[in-house]
Amino acid sequence: MNEIRIRPARPADAPAIQSVARDSWSDVYQEVISIEAQRRALEHWYSTNALIASIQSATSIFVVAETSRELLGFAQLNQLPDGSADLARIYVLPPNQRHGVGAALLRAVFDSARNNRVSRITVSVAKQNKRARSFYERSGFSLCGEGSVDLFGFSLQEVMYEQPVER
Ligand SMILES: CC(C)(COP(=O)(O)OP(=O)(O)OC[C@H]1O[C@@H](n2cnc3c(N)ncnc32)[C@H](O)[C@@H]1OP(=O)(O)O)[C@@H](O)C(=O)NCCC(=O)NCCS
Repeated sequence: MNEIRIRPARPADAPAIQSVARDSWSDVYQEVISIEAQRRALEHWYSTNALIASIQSATSIFVVAETSRELLGFAQLNQLPDGSADLARIYVLPPNQRHGVGAALLRAVFDSARNNRVSRITVSVAKQNKRARSFYERSGFSLCGEGSVDLFGFSLQEVMYEQPVER
């Protein structure tokens, strides 16, 4: 793979982020989330307006991974009033997974979190998403909860992980 660069997302990245999201959602959630709930979630969370608002939010850290040719992935961390932060999304294009892109995005997220004095990072993940769970466990997260959420009419079983941000 060409050299990977991690940088803050820009509003002009919205179409490429939408494209990565469409490809990775249909790949990872095929047997986990109903097609209708996927469609509604993508429409709601990945509309151009929603993405630009997230990219420009003062309390979010939004980074992308790219080569000189294409955008390969992205991650968004939302800072919370209690000093912690929630990893809201981290996605890598399916053909480019397992080449260290996710780890590079996560390192950038932790670096920014440290600079912003975030105490700990949490992440919620579909219980059946073994790939992401292995990634978080390998990256130092510990399981800290479990529950179900209503995802646009679909009941999704989730588990929650956490990791302190070392100074
Ligand atoms: C989870 C995700 C972001 C990981 O990104 P990635 O670029 O593939 O991850 P990396 O290559 O940096 O992997 C780092 C380590 O995580 C673990 N890991 C990653 N993918 C794995 C898999 N499919 N199975 C088992 N372990 C895995 C491995 O230990 C890996 O290190 P190794 O390759 O040296 O063994 C990516 O798989 C993805 O986009 N998945 C779909 C979207 C998703 O589920 N996002 C999370 C929503 S909460």
